Amino acid sequence: MEILQQFSLKNYNTFGIEAKAKQFVAVHSIDELKTILAQHKDEKKFILGGGSNMLLTQDIDALVIHIDLKGKKVIEENEDHVFIECQAGENWHEFVLWTIEQDFGGLENMSLIPGNVGTTPVQNIGAYGAEIKDSFISCDAININNQEKRTFVKDECKFGYRESIFKNEVKDQFIITSVVFKLTKRNHKINTSYGDISAELAKNNITNPTIKDVSNAVIAIRRSKLPDPKELGNSGSFFKNPIVPKVDFEKIQQKFPEMKYYDISPTEVKVPAGWLIEQAGFKGKRFGDAGIHKNQALVLVNYGNATGQEILAVSKDVQQTIFETFGIQIEAEVNVI
Ligand code: EPU
Repeated sequence: MEILQQFSLKNYNTFGIEAKAKQFVAVHSIDELKTILAQHKDEKKFILGGGSNMLLTQDIDALVIHIDLKGKKVIEENEDHVFIECQAGENWHEFVLWTIEQDFGGLENMSLIPGNVGTTPVQNIGAYGAEIKDSFISCDAININNQEKRTFVKDECKFGYRESIFKNEVKDQFIITSVVFKLTKRNHKINTSYGDISAELAKNNITNPTIKDVSNAVIAIRRSKLPDPKELGNSGSFFKNPIVPKVDFEKIQQKFPEMKYYDISPTEVKVPAGWLIEQAGFKGKRFGDAGIHKNQALVLVNYGNATGQEILAVSKDVQQTIFETFGIQIEAEVNVI
């Protein structure tokens, strides 16, 4: 394991921001991870997975540990289900495609989400009516302070909308090293009710979709709306969709009757932040090399050489305008470093 000094993180964050790590090391096994943690016990550490959910606004004055654990295997199966353990450093989308090739169902609606498997439980990733928690069984993690392994089963993870225990009670205390998923081998639960999936399938005359068809439809929709980080730096949705108490929403709705919303509980609604941002006139706007994507206003983009500070400034401008216009506070989904 080589520890590199003043290492550029440009290729390690999907925003493509130039920032340096004081020190950088990639670990390829749990033993390597434990060794590094033990050897650098009293130093500041920063854990880096796929770099797909962070905005670097400064150099990282710490030892950056890049989790590069690879491998996936079936650990148990019966006639209906298969349990797969996947290591944290596997690319999420490649893993999803592999499950679909084996005809294992459950992850197809989450095709093409950027990032690595190990970070999927942290923010309970989701798309098109599915969330990681629907297929999640457990994950193994290493305690940063004492290098002990701990298994977190689903209930312990306290999953919510883009939320989990890893963002709250045990934040910065554990490194997820592998995740176990329970997938279907037959009687797949095809879920095409969300958004544009059924329209995309109808366009291709598919009436009885397989999990592969659903995955292809999701990939086509995402490609049409969301920029590919390899071509245009971005971090997916920059903001979370705000959850607003119904009593407040009803007042806002009187002023903006066309505002979109989804009922999520008897007392709360979720409002699509993309709609708010588009209405506020930000969609497609560019400020130097930082901007708001032309096809999906939730996504902030780096046209080339934007700094993290510049993107952060745009995000603050958006937040403030949305608050002034609609009285709704929108929060970043991305971790601002
Ligand atoms: N909308 C607009 N303008 C926009 C974007 C959206 O008016 O620029 C409206 C749409 O017309 C639609 C509503 O907002 O009525 C919701 O849009 P969409 O279904 O595209 O989803 P989203 O709420 O914008 C969420 C996730 C995405 C996920 C999609 C699809 C969050 C923060 N984002 O976006 O996740 O792919 O649903 O399920 O929940 C990500 O987290 O990185 C991500 C891309």
